[in-house]
Amino acid sequence: MRLNSPKLNIMYKACMKASKSLIRDFGEIENLQVSSKGPGDFVSSADKRTEKIIIDELLKAHPDFGILSEEAGVINEKNKTNRWIIDPIDGTSNFLNGIPQFAISIGYEEDNKIKNGLIYDPIKNELFFAEVGNGAFLNNSRIRVSKKKNLKHSLIGTGGPKSSSKFKNEIFTEFIEMSKNVDTPIRKYGSASLDLASVACGRFDGFWQRELSFWDIAAGIIIVKEAGGFIDFIENGVGESKKKNLVASNSLIHKELLDLVKKKNIEKN
Ligand code: IPD
Ligand code: CA
Ligand code: CA
Repeated sequence: MRLNSPKLNIMYKACMKASKSLIRDFGEIENLQVSSKGPGDFVSSADKRTEKIIIDELLKAHPDFGILSEEAGVINEKNKTNRWIIDPIDGTSNFLNGIPQFAISIGYEEDNKIKNGLIYDPIKNELFFAEVGNGAFLNNSRIRVSKKKNLKHSLIGTGGPKSSSKFKNEIFTEFIEMSKNVDTPIRKYGSASLDLASVACGRFDGFWQRELSFWDIAAGIIIVKEAGGFIDFIENGVGESKKKNLVASNSLIHKELLDLVKKKNIEKN
């Protein structure tokens, strides 16, 4: 890792330890016991194993830090100053179906501001990371968002909706509208953290998605920003438990993309 950052080092150690078990589990996918957590949302024993390794390592380094993790929930709730935000497997449905598009995502927040982010794709061995003020990296190289100037010629990604979404029809309508404004069909890869990492390194020019959780995007937000990209939220409720509607892109197409998503005003219908 090229950044000499104490926080990133802790995150990196935890992530690498967890990824060994995750890679093993991916190799034995058919033996995993899958339990249903709700419509469209599955959690596997691998998810919990990975999460435990990450949490144990992070707590070893800082026993008093707060944690918000997808499966384990909140730990050390009183600490509002320092907090890790964890998604042990982002792209669970891909993982469970043997599709190599998933990642470990860890963010670090201080006084409610995201300071560090790390997203690791263990199958491609791609480590995306950033620290506020110090740029974004993919493995050993500095990354930047794309320079695409207009939406029409851009490659855009999205995700969802979940089958439980109240706004399914509206979200599909939005997808159709967006499709009419771009030449290349919209990508939908099923891992929001990797979608954001793709914006950060210029593979995608932009990404938008409604109803995301904070652990899907905490690390990606800082990585995109440090890569020179823009992030916006639309029509969000208050508080972190509320789902986030996010638009991320290079600075040049951001307004165009944002205007198109905003125009719909789905939740006010
Ligand atoms: C999901 C992925 C997916 C997004 C969903 C998320 P999970 O996370 O990021 O791309 O469309 O909204 O819930 O469940 O695989 O951790
Ligand atoms: Ca997720
Ligand atoms: Ca997950």
